[in-house]
Amino acid sequence: MCGIVGYIGNRQAAPILLDGLSKLEYRGYDSAGIAVYNGEKIDMVKARGRLKVLGELSHGGEILPGTVGIGHTRWATHGSPSDKNAHPHFNKDSSIVVVHNGIIENYLKLKKKLERKGYEFVSETDTEVIAHLLDYYYTGNPLQAVTKIMHRMEGSYALGIIFRDHPDEVYAVRKDSPLIVGHTDDGSIIASDVPAVLKYTRNVYFIENEEIVRLTREDMEFFTVDEEPIEKTPVKIDWDINAAEKGGYEHFMLKEMYEQPKAITDTFSPRIKNGKIVIEELGMSEEDIQSIRKIMIVACGSAYHTGVTSKYIFEDLARIPVEVDLASEFRYRNPILDAGTLVLVISQSGETADTLAALRESKKRGARVLGIVNVVGSSIAREADNVMYTWAGPEIAVATTKAYSAQLIALYLLAMKFANIRGILPDEGLSRMLEELRALPCQVEMLLNNKERIQRFANRYLAAKDIFFIGRGIDYAISLEGSLKLKEISYIHSEAYAAGELKHGTISLVEKGTLVASVLTQRELYKKMISNMEEVRTRGAFVLAVTNEGNTEVERVADYVIYIPETNKYFTNSLAIIPLQLFGYYISVGRGCDVDKPRNLAKSVTVE
Ligand code: M6R
Repeated sequence: MCGIVGYIGNRQAAPILLDGLSKLEYRGYDSAGIAVYNGEKIDMVKARGRLKVLGELSHGGEILPGTVGIGHTRWATHGSPSDKNAHPHFNKDSSIVVVHNGIIENYLKLKKKLERKGYEFVSETDTEVIAHLLDYYYTGNPLQAVTKIMHRMEGSYALGIIFRDHPDEVYAVRKDSPLIVGHTDDGSIIASDVPAVLKYTRNVYFIENEEIVRLTREDMEFFTVDEEPIEKTPVKIDWDINAAEKGGYEHFMLKEMYEQPKAITDTFSPRIKNGKIVIEELGMSEEDIQSIRKIMIVACGSAYHTGVTSKYIFEDLARIPVEVDLASEFRYRNPILDAGTLVLVISQSGETADTLAALRESKKRGARVLGIVNVVGSSIAREADNVMYTWAGPEIAVATTKAYSAQLIALYLLAMKFANIRGILPDEGLSRMLEELRALPCQVEMLLNNKERIQRFANRYLAAKDIFFIGRGIDYAISLEGSLKLKEISYIHSEAYAAGELKHGTISLVEKGTLVASVLTQRELYKKMISNMEEVRTRGAFVLAVTNEGNTEVERVADYVIYIPETNKYFTNSLAIIPLQLFGYYISVGRGCDVDKPRNLAKSVTVE
């Protein structure tokens, strides 16, 4: 989604802004812009399209000299992607300039009021309202103007603001949209996400809701919305800077797929001690675990798919009833929760607006919330009662792979721990499962090394119109993710179905040559799946099967088979997803799509 970078210091601002924005490109955007104070006035360049366009227009930032500036990559919400809707936005005499992430929900009402007072709007954005509103309230004191607009605006916002008449200051404000600030060697920097600042500082302050920061070259001061000063402590970011670079791979997605063995190991190994699963950060005693009456899992996209997988595991292995819901549905459906419900919110970014709102809703209703989060210090990580981190490292490609794999591991660990403590999974059973868990990284690597075969297969389907994925039980959950991986980066229409559901309508879409990817890793469901595969094959489908080694019976009904190594029945998702990720990836590459930054998508969806 949108990205913000701001700088004030002793160096030229524009190159730092362009560099910082380039580190946020992965978040998804359709236009970009920068504004720099040149010692007299604020200059701005902005344009629809990629940062390359902005870089060319501004000659790498050279035509915007100055040491104070703000920049933005915009993912359109209000108003189409265009030059005029791109950020930054000015007030009427260009003395105040603003960049904004989020949505001002009452912007139409504010816009009408401002128009009645004579303000003219040049864009269709909600952000321009902020610039004019600041203008309206500004009487010489920027902090006061900022707090005044905060009282008037509803919705979510992270803002970077410069006032021409206070050229030695940059203002940063946050409500429900992430923002960090930090000192560099020669100044201060703001950004909406960590990768943009890694090159300049490792010590950052996470701005909390309704906090304001005044940055100068040497200093930064924090205030509440009542203009009260606040003390804050910086957090050290340990990310390896190379982790946010491509490191020789053609795409971040490919690199991140190859990082899956490490992400899996890093997520389980610190939590296995003396043959037991120790999750210190869980903050739950054995009695707490025994008294869980229901688990409610809430997430979006791929994180939701890991939730669907884990429902089968929690229920079958630990005998705990589980509900899984999409965060965007859950938050408005008056869910039934109580103190006996453990809510698991799963999120790579920790900033997904719907998931964050679901977390807040759950807490309000008295449930205990455990966040399973990848980005350290993110909003969900900070607001959950407890947080279990997935140690996947920074994930840049919009299509998640390694964070997804790490989420699965976190959920397996929880399910095994709960089952063990509740007396359903004895210690010997747990030890066997831990052995199988330890084998996963090597098995994933083996599957990744088979990539050429998948690429050859993918090349046959570059022109496909529709591709279906089918499975039962956990295999249905794998199908959901396989299908999403394919469609989000290749733009080929694809759906996943519970295989038994096909004949209730969808089978009418199957025609000669339609590719039906069938996942069958659950032994007790093999026969049922084989019947479903036969049904589609008789109707002309080309059947791809992803199944366990040794299940050769499948060759009778499949046109192409990919075998995965033997593992525990609960862990098959971790293996079966690898060829499906590779399939989506190679189709996307073969079709010449923008693999890492697919159209219309954002890495972190901070608006609902
Ligand atoms: O950051 P989150 O895990 O909360 O994000 C959730 C979804 O937006 C995300 O998984 C999305 O579906 C990905 N594009 C899938 O690859």
